[in-house]
Amino acid sequence: MTLLRLVVLFGVAVVMALDNGLARTPPMGWSSWNTFRCDINEALILETAEKMISEGMRDAGYVYVNIDDCWSLHQRNASGYLVEDPAKFPHGIRYLADYLHKRGMKLGLYNAAGAWTCQGYPGSYHYEKQDAELFASYDVDFWKQDWCAVELGQDPRVSYPVLRDAVNATGHPMVLSICEYGLKEVWTWGPTTGNMWRTTNDISDSWDRWTYILEAQAAITGFSGPGGWNDMDMLVVGMGGQPDGHYQAHFSLWALLNSPLIAGNDVRKMTAATREILLNGEVIAVNQDPLGIQGTRIWQSFLKEQEVWARPLTGGMYAAVLLNRDEAKPRDVTLKLADLPPVPGTPAGQVTAAMVRDLWAHADLGTFQGQYTAKVPARSAVMITLRPACTRMCVRAPCECDS
Ligand SMILES: *[C@@H]1O[C@H](CO)[C@@H](O)[C@H](O)[C@H]1NC(C)=O
Ligand SMILES: *[C@@H]1O[C@H](CO)[C@@H](O)[C@H](O)[C@H]1NC(C)=O
Repeated sequence: MTLLRLVVLFGVAVVMALDNGLARTPPMGWSSWNTFRCDINEALILETAEKMISEGMRDAGYVYVNIDDCWSLHQRNASGYLVEDPAKFPHGIRYLADYLHKRGMKLGLYNAAGAWTCQGYPGSYHYEKQDAELFASYDVDFWKQDWCAVELGQDPRVSYPVLRDAVNATGHPMVLSICEYGLKEVWTWGPTTGNMWRTTNDISDSWDRWTYILEAQAAITGFSGPGGWNDMDMLVVGMGGQPDGHYQAHFSLWALLNSPLIAGNDVRKMTAATREILLNGEVIAVNQDPLGIQGTRIWQSFLKEQEVWARPLTGGMYAAVLLNRDEAKPRDVTLKLADLPPVPGTPAGQVTAAMVRDLWAHADLGTFQGQYTAKVPARSAVMITLRPACTRMCVRAPCECDS
């Protein structure tokens, strides 16, 4: 039984996360969907996993290897269990889980909460118990549950807790990834139900699409935290439809906003630029910061073409993304230090000077008083960390200010 636990912390209502011990930082990995759709099989999963290891992705944190829709046969067996498609997965799903575990990785698997999955395979509706038992017997570590072919009136606020409880009853911990596109304000009940929840419709490999998802976060950044995350959907970095500068901005914002980082490209064929984006350890460190405070938008220009998103990090630091949406022109974007969002419970507007580091140039830029301005290329972002050099209060490290 999971009770809704609402505690008041520093005057802010905080919904406590699902207590399965998982996803204390945003899950990282790869999913078959964005590039391969239903064209999946055992060889692809094994090759991808090996490539993730040899490219350094596993060691950078991308440990979940997620099989999306289309892995089962079209009928359940006579006892009501899903059956893995033997043509696609000749050694079965459990074989892949065992293989990945030996390689220091984890297996994700997919189903949907309605009668059918989005691609027409049997869904979990009325079969939650059998599906949870089967996934546990496969030693699955991560379960993405989609929302397709649902009954008229089927309520995700009922269906996902049924699944949560069925998984819990197996005694086998699995990250529960809720994928119902933000219906019924999932961020309000997601934290007690799953470890991550999609907030919008699907991403696609375009600037307009991922900036629409970004826009949808602005009002809900308070609902994400350790154990339960606003999921901005899988990454499209390296899929080929956008220039690398767009991908760099997309990755910067997904990292700053604590989205799970689930790569969706063909990692067997990465360009050097894709590798540099997905493997930027300084950007990943922001995403994986243990405080788990989602970035918020702290400034927007009058025409909404330039904006600044920022968040506190552990150790009194901050991270920020300066975004220029202008299609044609580079623009100056200014972050005012007084606008930095404080750690909950501490007063705002205390930072008066900070040392700035550029996370894409991998360079310290020096100490700035009052504000920091970057010239941001068209449709690009600059991502920085800030270490306060001088605060009004100087109550904790790293305050080094005498003035
Ligand atoms: C159905 O699948 C389950 C799980 O793999 C298995 O235990 C059971 O024996 C199967 N039932 C039939 C009738 O094949
Ligand atoms: C089941 O739920 C209880 C209570 O929330 C929790 O302590 C336990 O870790 C959960 N088990 C699994 C396998 O998720």
